Amino acid sequence: MLVSGNEIFAAAKEGKYAVGAFNVNNMEILQAIVEAAEEEKSPVIIQASQGGIKYAGLEYISAMARLAASQVSVPVALNIDHGTDFDQIARCVRHGFTALMFDGSKLSFEENIAVTRRVVEMARPNDISVEAELGKIGGVEDDVVVHDREATFTDPDEAAEFAERSGCDVLAVAIGTAHGVYKGEPKLDFARLEEISKKCSVPLVLHGASGVPDDAIHRAIPFGICKVNIDTEVRQVFAEAVKRLVNEHPDEIDPRKILGPAKDNMRNTVREKMRLFGCAGRA
Ligand code: 13P
Repeated sequence: MLVSGNEIFAAAKEGKYAVGAFNVNNMEILQAIVEAAEEEKSPVIIQASQGGIKYAGLEYISAMARLAASQVSVPVALNIDHGTDFDQIARCVRHGFTALMFDGSKLSFEENIAVTRRVVEMARPNDISVEAELGKIGGVEDDVVVHDREATFTDPDEAAEFAERSGCDVLAVAIGTAHGVYKGEPKLDFARLEEISKKCSVPLVLHGASGVPDDAIHRAIPFGICKVNIDTEVRQVFAEAVKRLVNEHPDEIDPRKILGPAKDNMRNTVREKMRLFGCAGRA
């Protein structure tokens, strides 16, 4: 059932758990995510990245996601991930997205507040949630590249002022995670996260959660993390399964036999994440 991001975040904050937000690029990934949510009785957030929109098209992704959401009983929100273009975000509203992310992390503090406010003004009458980003999360997320030297951690005082003045519903924070595959083990700045959560009343979002050890995720959630983003790990599971199948059955030409096992494996990975984040059993 398609619901507003606001409904999912309010329940997560109240229940002190985080909801998984998984990126979708094609039908198999989408089905794996919603089936996992239904099996785990978990709320879920499906998100379309810039690369996903470029690959599948906004109309396709939104229509597929709305159809997938309508076929399950658990709450599903549809989010644009790292939107940077106001007009594209407005198109998402017209296509039935129920959650929006405006990523103004490359703008100045004041500009980031100003554009986030405009997005909030557009979203609020439609009961659509708005996620903003403060600080710069490193790594590669499709077309969004932030080099290590550019990544900056979120300042707790700025986060409080930003949330207050921008009116955002949830805030993505930079505390040491990065998009993509980690070179070493990521070190999260828990003291900073605690400080942010004390000063900032809105629920927080952890990006770049693929490859973050389970115990670090467990430690982070009580500090107000209500949304955890996963993309890379699902892609890895997809790619490994397809490569294995093709290696073992080089003559296979049936796309259903090539992609079917990948879908099953992705569904299992998503289910594990839902249990880890504490959202399993909450729907
Ligand atoms: P990963 O690809 O590192 O899982 O990050 C996903 C993400 O944060 C999407 O915004």
